[in-house]
Amino acid sequence: GGHLKSKVKAGLRQFPDFPSKGVLFEDIMPLFASHSLHTTLLEALELQIAEAFHTKIGEKSGIDVIVGLESRGFLFGPALALRLGAGFVPVRKEGKLPGECETVRFRKEYGEDVFQMQRDAFERGQRVVIVDDIIATGGTAAAAGQLVRKLGGDLLGFVFMMELDFLKGREKLDAPAYTLLSGQEESSAEGG
Ligand code: PRP
Ligand code: MG
Repeated sequence: GGHLKSKVKAGLRQFPDFPSKGVLFEDIMPLFASHSLHTTLLEALELQIAEAFHTKIGEKSGIDVIVGLESRGFLFGPALALRLGAGFVPVRKEGKLPGECETVRFRKEYGEDVFQMQRDAFERGQRVVIVDDIIATGGTAAAAGQLVRKLGGDLLGFVFMMELDFLKGREKLDAPAYTLLSGQEESSAEGG
C-alpha cells in the first residue's frame, strides 16, 4: 500500500497561517475533488483497516458499524462503510440529533465542544470502528470512543487519515489507533 499512501499524501495541500497566524493548515479537499484520488484514498483506507483489525477486504469485512465524526469524518465514513459492508452512524455536535442521545463534553485546543450519539444507533456488542480525518490533540476521538462504549459497542479501534504525532493524541485513546499518514513536526499545525 506504499504507493497508495504517497499518492494520497501528494493530494494534500498546505496553507500556512490558516485559520490563524502560525498554523499550517492541511487541506484534505483536493482528495475528494478528484475521482482518481478519492478512489485511491478509499482503497488505502480499506487496506489499512484490513491490516489493522485483521478483517477482510470487501463487503464481508466483519466490521458492523463505521462511526464518523462531524464534520470531516462524514467525508470518509459512509463511503468506507459501503465498501466494508458495514452500517454508518454519525457522531454529531450538540442539539442536532433527535430522540434519546448520549452526550460527552470534551476539551479542544481552544475551548470545549459537545458530541452526541443516538442511544439506539447500533446494538450492544456490535463491532465498531471510529473514523476521522485527523487526530491532533486526541480530544475529539477520545470523546467519540466514550460514546461508542456508553452504547455498548465493541470498539475495535480508530482509523485516521492523518496524525499529528508530536501532539501525542493517541495517548488519550483506550483502543488501538491506526493512521495512513503522519504529519511532519511543525511549530503549530492544525488538521484541515
Ligand atoms: C478537526 C478534525 C478532527 C479534530 C482533531 O475537527 O476534523 O475532527 O479537529 O482535533 P483533536 O484531535 O485536537 O481533537 P474540527 O473540530 O475542527 O471540525 P470539523 O471536522 O467540523 O471541520
Ligand atoms: Mg473534525
